[in-house]
Amino acid sequence: MRVAIIGQGYVGLTIAAGAAGDGHTVVGFDVNVGLVAQLNAGRSHIEGVGDSDLAGFIAAGTYLAASDPSVLDGCEVIVIAVPTPLDADRNPDLSYVHAASDLISQHVKSPALIVNESTSYPGTLRKEIAARITGVDHLFASSPERVDPGNNQWGTKNTPRLIGGLTPAAVAKAKEFYGSFCDSIIEVSSPEVAEAAKIFENTFRQVNIALVNEFAQIADALGISGREVLDAAATKPYGFMPFNPGPGVGGHCIPVDPSYLAHVANEVGVPATFIKRANEVNLAMPAYVVTRVVAGSGGSIRGKKVVVVGVSYKSNVADTRETPAAAVIDLLREQGATVSWHDDLVGTWRGESSSPIAGADIAVVVTKHDGVDLAAVKGCGYVFDCTSSITGVDGI
Ligand SMILES: NC(=O)c1ccc[n+]([C@@H]2O[C@H](COP(=O)([O-])OP(=O)(O)OC[C@H]3O[C@@H](n4cnc5c(N)ncnc54)[C@H](O)[C@@H]3O)[C@@H](O)[C@H]2O)c1
Repeated sequence: MRVAIIGQGYVGLTIAAGAAGDGHTVVGFDVNVGLVAQLNAGRSHIEGVGDSDLAGFIAAGTYLAASDPSVLDGCEVIVIAVPTPLDADRNPDLSYVHAASDLISQHVKSPALIVNESTSYPGTLRKEIAARITGVDHLFASSPERVDPGNNQWGTKNTPRLIGGLTPAAVAKAKEFYGSFCDSIIEVSSPEVAEAAKIFENTFRQVNIALVNEFAQIADALGISGREVLDAAATKPYGFMPFNPGPGVGGHCIPVDPSYLAHVANEVGVPATFIKRANEVNLAMPAYVVTRVVAGSGGSIRGKKVVVVGVSYKSNVADTRETPAAAVIDLLREQGATVSWHDDLVGTWRGESSSPIAGADIAVVVTKHDGVDLAAVKGCGYVFDCTSSITGVDGI
């Protein structure tokens, strides 16, 4: 099939690679002209899609990036994979989804299957996408993306894919497309069910992470090891699922998607109380971390050299969106410390560059990438580990 993917970020490029790898002819459309040039030069910007894969698809003629919307017309399948962030008031910002829909409406004159993979609240496909694309008899389906960047066990191929369509013909076409490169397709009765399933999955994670973050604080105040308690609880073979405490939640999904659910819940008059409380607990974790670092350093970090190790939101990825490291660094600076950070994957961020670990008085490990120099970390005078995975040091 001739396929267009609108948005060539983490999700769009991953799907583009999956479809191109299966022999579809894929156009990766993005408004970022620099990114388009980089992709056409065979340079991937995400983990999970290698430069050699990309160059191979380009050489085989199964992938091309483009920023000219005229490439969209004539495609059998058009996938929307654009950002769905929160606005300044933490309400859904659907402006990217609207812009992508308007592009389709203006430029696509031959009927196509239009699939939304961007995460949003139930009703988005029907009311915010299909309703804006007029004049052509397109098919519409929702297939929310579940990719977990950096996860080597579960990827596009083996993660079951949900599909809900506005019509049976849309479902059939979406099943044909995704069935060509995904092992398992699960049809649900409407796009709203697929959309709600995705945001409930991420709300489940957000709420459970908040619960374990609160528990870690309770355990510490009780003078027992939260880590040991969680490991002990996890020996129960049923009815318990382990989550790890940490410095907060980051990335484009867990801190954001639940607020989309809270938004629609509010509109239908059912307050999403768990989501509100989970946001409060998770957003307060950087302050808790800094309180513990100050306490563990003799009551003051004024004038001390602190290195924050790992600033992306999770291990082995370079993504710094919504990372709790930002608040940890800002709060450490408010305490009068001289703060640098070390992250080989991130390199530069917020106008600063990665610094060496050695020579700091205090190391605060926010995210632990494979290969980080733990000897250098342990060489610092005081170490606080937010990942509860470094033995013999203080931490959450
Ligand atoms: N990153 C993840 O792990 C993940 C996982 C599952 C679902 N999602 C969801 O997938 C969606 C995309 O997320 P992402 O992480 O890929 O975002 P991203 O920021 O990595 O990429 C989005 C891309 O879309 C482009 N773009 C923006 N507006 C455009 C437009 N009008 N036309 C064409 N291109 C446009 C941007 O330039 C960017 O390259 C979001 O809804 C997100 O919640 C993300």
